[in-house]
Amino acid sequence: MTGKAVIALGAAALATGLLSAAPAMAQFAKAEDAVKYRQSSFTLMSNHMGRLAAMVKGERPFDAAAAQDSARVIDAVAKLPWEAFVPGSEKVQSGAKPELFANPADVKMLSERLNGETAKLVAAAGSLDSLRSQVGATGAACKACHDKYRNR
Ligand code: HEC
Repeated sequence: MTGKAVIALGAAALATGLLSAAPAMAQFAKAEDAVKYRQSSFTLMSNHMGRLAAMVKGERPFDAAAAQDSARVIDAVAKLPWEAFVPGSEKVQSGAKPELFANPADVKMLSERLNGETAKLVAAAGSLDSLRSQVGATGAACKACHDKYRNR
């Protein structure tokens, strides 16, 4: 399956509610699986944010189509990590601070802030100027949560 097909499948699953119908824990056989899932989502987002940042910094030539592809990946994947902060996973060694599990409403707000910014990335990727400012706003949403709830 191509990367695009995987994402289309993920988006279809989200749209039909397949990913959110059952209680979160049922999606993961073990707490370790949930940790791996959320870390994998962050790794993907970070890779594609890095590609956009390289264009913004002039380390890579600006390419609107490639930027829009990365923006779509980031926007789709940014919806995934949150269901994987399941109860019990705070006992697994990870980069999540214990405070995260005690403040679900705040974490939800910060994740929604990110989703709000990533939703604007695809349109912004059409020009280097708008990409620059939206990568900045998106990165700030990543950092706002990391400053409070990420260990490393
Ligand atoms: C609402 C909170 C929140 C937001 C928003 C957020 N992160 Fe994170 N991020 C975390 C937490 C918590 C961890 C530690 C997760 C773990 O180890 O289980 C983490 C871990 C990571 C990791 C390390 C993954 C690994 O393999 O250990 C990367 C890379 C990362 N985030 C990138 C990003 C990027 C890029 C964005 C924005 C596009 C972002 N994060 C937005 C909370 C957040």
